[in-house]
Amino acid sequence: MAKVFCVLSGKGGVGKSTFCVNIGKALSENKKVLLIDGDISFRSLDMLLGLDSMVVFDWADVVFDRCQKEKARLFASENLHLLSSPLSLPDSFEKSDFQKLISEYNEMYDYIFIDAPAGFGKFAEIYASAAGEIIVIATPDDISLRAAYFVGEKLIEMGTDENKMRLVLNKTDFRQMRNGRQRNLDTAVDKTYLRLLGVIPNDKSLVFSGEKGVDSASKRVNEAFFNIAQRILGKDVKLYY
Ligand SMILES: Nc1ncnc2c1ncn2[C@@H]1O[C@H](COP(=O)(O)OP(=O)(O)O)[C@@H](O)[C@H]1O
Ligand SMILES: [Mg+2]
Repeated sequence: MAKVFCVLSGKGGVGKSTFCVNIGKALSENKKVLLIDGDISFRSLDMLLGLDSMVVFDWADVVFDRCQKEKARLFASENLHLLSSPLSLPDSFEKSDFQKLISEYNEMYDYIFIDAPAGFGKFAEIYASAAGEIIVIATPDDISLRAAYFVGEKLIEMGTDENKMRLVLNKTDFRQMRNGRQRNLDTAVDKTYLRLLGVIPNDKSLVFSGEKGVDSASKRVNEAFFNIAQRILGKDVKLYY
């Protein structure tokens, strides 16, 4: 049975899709990982993985029996697979449709990550209720942190176990934290009321441009994702890069 993670944020542009791709790469060294692009109309995982020219099917084709589950996937590597996002879905689409999709792939993977749209709309709620674990991504500024807190509140309102919710702080810069230009880790955690799963540096190797794609990640970025992957695997490793 796969462990299913829903990756959420309050604000957009904080790094949900970047997180999904890089944690997928880190975990797929030893585990089978499926990424599900859930950002309807604004899909990006196909591009971030360099697979955009290969997209033929999306996960709605599986939900509505237009494509076999094996054929709908794209392979980023032997162990890292992608289900691309549909461009639209009927208004009648509901939680049970998405749960059916997850159950199709549950036995085939160790980890499934669902890349949600920003905020807490209909789809974020559908994905969160299909996932056993939630990761909220935020950047260390008050606007993003307040939005992450709001997402946490919504998750609790819908009955999510607090122990299943974790915070990842992205685009962090310890020098900026020291000189007060970014909130420090303690303040960031206090403001969201979420437990910290990991910290990712602000690093130009993670900046995506269509022109050149993604650079290979720098050493400290690899280390940050390696540590988060280890913690997801249940190992006790340091929190910081
Ligand atoms: N740690 C980071 N350091 C530098 N740039 C980053 C980092 N994480 C993400 N980015 C950049 O920020 C932008 C938004 O990231 P993205 O993953 O698309 O966010 P989201 O999915 O939350 O909207 C992208 O241009 C991405 O390359
Ligand atoms: Mg995204």
